[in-house]
Amino acid sequence: MKTPRAFYSPLAIGAPAPFRDLPVRLERMIHFVPPHIEKMRAKVPDLIAQVDVVLGNLEDAIPADAKLDARRGFIRMAEDNDFAQTGLWTRVNCLNSPWFLDDMLEIVPAVGNKLDVVMLPKVEGPWDIHYLDQLLAQLEARAGISRPIMIHAILETAEGVKNVEAIATASPRMHGMSLGPADLAASRGMKTTRVGGGHPDYAVLSDAGEGGARTAYQQDLWHYTVGKMVDACLSAGLKPFYGPFGDFSDPLACEAQFRNAFLMGCLGAWSLHPTQIDIAKRVFSPDPSEVAFARKILDAMPDGTGAVMIDGKMQDDATWKQAKVIVDLARLVAS
Ligand code: GLV
Ligand code: MG
Repeated sequence: MKTPRAFYSPLAIGAPAPFRDLPVRLERMIHFVPPHIEKMRAKVPDLIAQVDVVLGNLEDAIPADAKLDARRGFIRMAEDNDFAQTGLWTRVNCLNSPWFLDDMLEIVPAVGNKLDVVMLPKVEGPWDIHYLDQLLAQLEARAGISRPIMIHAILETAEGVKNVEAIATASPRMHGMSLGPADLAASRGMKTTRVGGGHPDYAVLSDAGEGGARTAYQQDLWHYTVGKMVDACLSAGLKPFYGPFGDFSDPLACEAQFRNAFLMGCLGAWSLHPTQIDIAKRVFSPDPSEVAFARKILDAMPDGTGAVMIDGKMQDDATWKQAKVIVDLARLVAS
């Protein structure tokens, strides 16, 4: 059962009240639903039992002539379902679109009391967050909503990456950030047509071996941005996420991309297709053998200080903290 419970979490670090009191939730996958399609909305009750977060998507992938239906569909899907411990998010249209203001003006009064997080696309700097923060404050006050709606920024423009630290600290409403590799690739002028994942030409060559033979080692195109985002998020007490992986026919590559992000500090990723739910669940829950080893470290150093050898490996105060991250996550998954 997924019951939110207090535990050592990035969300708790330095977060000012009342935000510190928000429940710490497992958010291994943010599952995208296109709310203008009735057949998809009908699946929401089943999804609630399977995923950590259900997100009604109003932005990219929703055709311009379906934007209003998507907004109304999201309101209906929020009204019609009890989300219990599953998060309810929406990705609104970007600030300079013709739809953003009405997304906010219609959604917050209607279902703001159920809405956990607004995901804001194409965030370029702290000014975007300041604007949304103030707007949310006004709409919450008018609607009598006492629980703050949080903000999750998508990092998907070169300008946004340049300003990532200022975005992270722009408001106590900041929940976290996701990498948006498709828009970011376009904004940076990268020469790809993929949504996340690697590229066979982005590789380093080994030294020439016998007869000049070389091996190409493909590199992770997103390593730099994920690292930058993780540091900006964790130093501000926010949660970092990998975003979408667009090739649904390649679950192995999706899993590898999610796993790189998990190892680097991300807490979840987007699932755009039902097959990606289980991938995210598997990747963003710690491996049982890692958890068992981490527990040994905690048991061997009850006060978290000193140095011990376990299975031939040196452990000390720093590895105790690493072990605690893994054991705390395992506890959250089990709760
Ligand atoms: C997500 O929004 C992306 O652009 O990758
Ligand atoms: Mg995008």
